[in-house]
Amino acid sequence: MNISVLVTGNALQVGETAANLIAAHLGLRPSPILGIATGSSPLTTYAHLAQLRRSGHLDVSRTSAFALDEYVGLAAGHRQSYRSVVDREVTTRLALDPTRVFVPDGNADNLDAACLDYEAAIRSSGGIDVQILGIGTNGHIGFNEPGTAFNSRTRVAELSASTRGDNACYFPSLSDVPTRCVTQGIGTILEARRIVLVASGEAKARAVEQALQSAPDTACPASALQGHSRVTFVLDTAAAHLLNPATLAPMQHSSR
Ligand code: F6R
Repeated sequence: MNISVLVTGNALQVGETAANLIAAHLGLRPSPILGIATGSSPLTTYAHLAQLRRSGHLDVSRTSAFALDEYVGLAAGHRQSYRSVVDREVTTRLALDPTRVFVPDGNADNLDAACLDYEAAIRSSGGIDVQILGIGTNGHIGFNEPGTAFNSRTRVAELSASTRGDNACYFPSLSDVPTRCVTQGIGTILEARRIVLVASGEAKARAVEQALQSAPDTACPASALQGHSRVTFVLDTAAAHLLNPATLAPMQHSSR
């Protein structure tokens, strides 16, 4: 198993560890391409990346970014659209050039054509250098729900009942959570040169365990990452607590 696993004490330390790793990788490229996730997991990572930029340890002037996914059908400017979340949490905080930040279009007249265009845009940028991922409680990555083929590409997909339930906290009620999304496919995600997955909290422990310790299976989309040669999981102790160190090689612990 190729995946490196770093275990830190809490979500803040997850963010610090992941951001240091990501900044080091971005620093190797003249015009780096960052793959960004939304949701709560990477917020501490973005906060620490912002701190690195402010202190002069990260130059983002030539960085471009591609988001993983977007809800279908939320009105333009909706606070919970991933375009709005990315503007708030990533573009503004990291002071990225907004013209270099891309989010799938969940309101395109022709969604299938927009998905193909998004793939083409990633490809013509040269591809993702470092992809940040969260993980769903059901093991999804991007919005690739259990059952998604590992060679899937950017497309319109249905959100599972469990994912809609998990994300209902961001909306007035469950019925306001969109039922469909545009998401990069698992095959698209696996083309990133490096992948850093961040997870914290007990609710993610089962998904993390399945991703790392079960044989790759579409029942746990994140288990597809076992087929990639440069993946790091940065976890807090709660998200890591079901892992068996004896079955992981190599596994690095860095508890602080
Ligand atoms: C978000 C995304 C999802 C989230 C996952 C975890 O762009 O692609 O896979 O990473 O749903 O969400 P949080 O971090 O909110 O628990």
